[in-house]
Amino acid sequence: MAVVKPVVLRSMKRALRNLGGEKAPVIAGHKLLYRCNLECQMCPFWRREDEELLGLADEIRIMEALARAGVSFLGFEGGEPLLRRDVGDILREAHARFHTSLVTNGWLLEHRLPEIAAHLDLLFVSIDGIGATHDRLRGIPRSFERAVQGMRASREEVPTVISHTMTRENLDHAERVVELAEQLDISLTVQVAYDYRTASPMSPERDPLRRAIERLRDLRKSGAPLLESVEYFDTILGSWYEGRPWRCKPWLTINIDPSGRIVLPCYVLQEYHGSLPVWDTDIRELWNSFAWTPYESCNKCALACYLEPSLFRWTDFTNVRERVIDGAVHYVQRTARTSSRATAGQLIQIESPTA
Ligand SMILES: C[S@@+](CC[C@H](N)C(=O)[O-])C[C@H]1O[C@@H](n2cnc3c(N)ncnc32)[C@H](O)[C@@H]1O
Ligand code: SF4
Ligand code: SF4
Repeated sequence: MAVVKPVVLRSMKRALRNLGGEKAPVIAGHKLLYRCNLECQMCPFWRREDEELLGLADEIRIMEALARAGVSFLGFEGGEPLLRRDVGDILREAHARFHTSLVTNGWLLEHRLPEIAAHLDLLFVSIDGIGATHDRLRGIPRSFERAVQGMRASREEVPTVISHTMTRENLDHAERVVELAEQLDISLTVQVAYDYRTASPMSPERDPLRRAIERLRDLRKSGAPLLESVEYFDTILGSWYEGRPWRCKPWLTINIDPSGRIVLPCYVLQEYHGSLPVWDTDIRELWNSFAWTPYESCNKCALACYLEPSLFRWTDFTNVRERVIDGAVHYVQRTARTSSRATAGQLIQIESPTA
């Protein structure tokens, strides 16, 4: 008799809860740290002050709380998650409970691959342009070369996807990044840079962005290996250029910061930080009492990990099959002070970017 994995049973239970009108998260994103070895212009995270990190025992407590809330997909990010010495242990525990993904800048990828590959369903590697354009945006020479070297190794071990962020300085590279994915025989996912208050404003200018999105939609239609649906591109165009807003459902994704606290309504806006770690929080209660309504019409970002899940409808079974069962894993993206707490120094393995 076939064994039904707990994660599948959880998905079915959650689908029933959603059909009954209850809000529950499907996908979780967890930043394992804010620290990073690169210095991307558009990114606020590497600029943050030093931080305390959780140890493995607390990371497991997070996972158990997420599983109880009904989460099926857990995506790790940061900062740079491969800087953590214990990332292999964390991923092994996560993969026993969830479908997993991780997003990395690729600098340490080739080196850390043996520890992580078996515990990942999907690996995202960020590429912001070809060669010098990527290196300039990422602030560190050779970061393009290292990321591509990492992907050549990782694609043999785990489904690997380029994650491309469109900024005002790389729109002319979007098509070349699609070609890179084709050459490497992997997929890619795109997003539009959002202007964080604490990073350089890098969001693209309006008209060139429209042309780039239309071009990507056409490439997707003609078979380019983009993970985004044609509907995703049409939805951004409709909302930003034709006054047809989409309804954001940020409650489908739960975000956990490096200290184990929930960030709401989404990881872009970060307007609420729970005072308790997620394992001491009644997620079901919080989810069904939080004032989500103002965010439904927000339309500020176009992050696939929010937009794509927001587009699916539980009452449309074709949609559920295509997006949840066949597709949702692609959009996973991207902690109680106990004896398991470790200092950042113990947990982080720093390799000099100039090495
Ligand atoms: C914050 S990084 C963390 C993981 C890893 N350090 C990396 O770069 O892949 C996750 C993703 O966010 C993207 N990103 C950074 N700044 C952004 C911004 N302002 N708007 C949208 N995406 C952004 C990065 O390009 C990357 O693909
Ligand atoms: S590599 Fe990732 S976390 Fe680091 S600065 Fe760039 S986008 Fe931010
Ligand atoms: S559209 Fe607004 S509420 Fe929704 S994920 Fe983006 S920033 Fe958050």
